[in-house]
Amino acid sequence: MNFHTRKWVKPEDLNPNGTLFGGSLLRWIDEEAAIYAIVQLGNQRVVTKYISEINFVSASRQGDIIELGITATEFGRTSITLTCEVRNKITRKSILTVEKMVFVNLGEDGLPAPHGRTEIKYVKDQFKGDIVE
Ligand SMILES: CC(C)(COP(=O)(O)OP(=O)(O)OC[C@H]1O[C@@H](n2cnc3c(N)ncnc32)[C@H](O)[C@@H]1OP(=O)(O)O)[C@@H](O)C(=O)NCCC(=O)NCCS
Repeated sequence: MNFHTRKWVKPEDLNPNGTLFGGSLLRWIDEEAAIYAIVQLGNQRVVTKYISEINFVSASRQGDIIELGITATEFGRTSITLTCEVRNKITRKSILTVEKMVFVNLGEDGLPAPHGRTEIKYVKDQFKGDIVE
């Protein structure tokens, strides 16, 4: 699993308990997963269909640097299934896991459309010869 995105937990991200608000984290995950699906399927019209049980494993506090990891576990006909983990960048302690997030590839008519993808594409393979981070 690649942990591409880092976030710095700021005062506006906290709940009244002084720890990271779950809603902020879910927003970050949904956006990160959507970007992952868009890149993998090569289509901007991708929507969240299903998110499985979310396990808030441990709390995060103001000032923590956290990182979001996503990887594809299954390519369907019109869907892609992802799994997600969020952890503390410094201690590597797990903060949240989502076993299954399903995104659906849409056509211009807004209906599910086959994406034709069967495996993870890596940036280095998409832009051979370029140096891409
Ligand atoms: C996404 C949407 C167009 C799919 O419509 P649908 O009639 O359920 O489509 P289908 O039954 O053809 O299913 C499409 C794919 O989703 C999968 N799917 C449908 N329901 C699912 C569920 N509950 N869990 C997991 N996968 C599911 C199907 O297996 C299919 O995948 P496949 O083609 O790879 O086999 C429709 O449900 C929708 O518009 N939902 C709202 C999306 C949204 O607003 N998201 C939040 C903002 S991004």
